[in-house]
Amino acid sequence: MSQATSVPVLTIDGPSGSGKGTISAAVAAQLGWHLLDSGALYRAVGYAAGMAGLDLSDVEAVTRCAQTTRIRFRAATDGGETRVIVNGHDATDELRTETAGAAASAIASMPSVREALVALQLGFRKGPGLVADGRDMGTVIFPDAAFKVFLTASAAERAKRRYKQLKEKGLSVTLGGLQREIEARDSRDASRVVAPLRPAEDALLVDTTGIGIDEVVAKVLSVVRP
Ligand code: DC
Repeated sequence: MSQATSVPVLTIDGPSGSGKGTISAAVAAQLGWHLLDSGALYRAVGYAAGMAGLDLSDVEAVTRCAQTTRIRFRAATDGGETRVIVNGHDATDELRTETAGAAASAIASMPSVREALVALQLGFRKGPGLVADGRDMGTVIFPDAAFKVFLTASAAERAKRRYKQLKEKGLSVTLGGLQREIEARDSRDASRVVAPLRPAEDALLVDTTGIGIDEVVAKVLSVVRP
């Protein structure tokens, strides 16, 4: 076994709004493990492609963009959130928008774009361990992970959570509109030919509908430390 593959990995997959981001960050902090936010990589490529004025359906151009975009995560010094630096620019705030999410979902359906991001993701596997947050962490990127979780929540609940987050940021959104967007993105992510959103066979399914963050974190941690 190579040194990299002996490093333990906990994969946390699931649809947007299932609480993956929050749960993954909390679990990684508690374990003292590294964190890979793979959605941020797809968002970063979508953002870079948009900044370069590319047509998001131009597979060749977007693939080249995925191969050349420099993406760096910079841990916050003040205990705040990790910043995402795209081609030297702090794009953290832009990456969180619904527009960036939709662009990410569109380019993530291109096999060549996914392929371009594989090595970068594997590079996050470093001791003492890695928590990998995404859609295909347990199925495609780290199929040999020792620990796998798939988080779900009803579309209505996920829309509610997203609504609260965006409202807190002062953005103007409607609950119905968000739920429709979430359902459309889910079906695109689940029906794409390459790396569709689905639980790994050996993943523990955790439905977070109506459950508090602490309880979900405890449940996920118990997979690693029974
Ligand atoms: O988790 P997120 O909302 O930041 O992800 C944004 C988009 O990126 C999502 O619509 C699907 C895509 N994605 C993916 O295809 N594979 C991943 N491992 C992570 C995200």
